[in-house]
This record gives sequence, C-alpha cells and structure tokens, in this order.
Amino acid sequence: MTQEQYTTILKKAFASEYAFYLKAQNFHWNVEGPLFPQYHEFFGNIYEEVGGSIDTFAEQLRALRIYAPAAFTTLDDLSEVECQEQVPDGMQMTQELLADSDLMAEMFKAAFVAAEEMGDHGLSNFLADRQDAHKKHSWMLRSTLK
Ligand SMILES: [Fe+2]
Repeated sequence: MTQEQYTTILKKAFASEYAFYLKAQNFHWNVEGPLFPQYHEFFGNIYEEVGGSIDTFAEQLRALRIYAPAAFTTLDDLSEVECQEQVPDGMQMTQELLADSDLMAEMFKAAFVAAEEMGDHGLSNFLADRQDAHKKHSWMLRSTLK
C-alpha cells in the first residue's frame, strides 16, 4: 500500500464519519411523529457519541501529517455516507442510519488493517474503538426495527 492509498482510506473514513454524525444530528432535529421523544433522544445519543470522536480522529490524522478534510464540499466529495436532504419518517431514518453504521463499521475495519500494515498502532487502536462503537450503534438501530 502506498502512502497515497493509505491517506485516501483515512480521509474517506473521516469524511464518512463526519457525514454520519451530521445525519444522526439531522434526524435528532427533524424527526416527527408520536414516537418523537424516543427517536429524538435515541438519535441524540448516537450523534453525541460519534461527534465526541471527531476531534480525536482529526488530531490523529494531523499527527500523521495528513490534513483533516474540513470543508463541506471536500467532506461531501470524500464521504461514502450519502447526505439526506429529505425528512423521512422515524423508521426510515433508523433503517438508513443502520445501513450507514454497518458501512462505517466496515470502513473502520479496513482502515484498521491499513493502519496496522503501516505500523501506526496508536491510530489502529482508535480505529478499532470506532469499529466497536458502530457495531454498538448498529445493534441498537437493528433492535429498534424489530
Ligand atoms: Fe439536541
């Protein structure tokens, strides 16, 4: 793996995580319906957990001399998590976040392997934790859909 390929993997994971964070916050703000209080709090817990990891992720990238993507346009170009411009109902929001959370867990799994290959063990620890966090989010999202 070249340094350029490695950088791309990490930047894509960062931008996708940021897009996931924004989507969970979007759903926290905009969800409607009789289950509003539950969804509002549920999506709130997710975006706060993910949001709490963003700064550490950016600083990990800087420690590797990689610039953190930080413009909406750049984040959107790099992200594999599609932004949601409509306001789906709570169940659809949950389904969408579940698919995205599963995607994030897979991206962090691949990024972990890349970081290990490059000998960046501090970063790989962080990426393993993020994979774990998304598996937990996916569990709760999946359970909500039963
Ligand atoms: Fe809030």
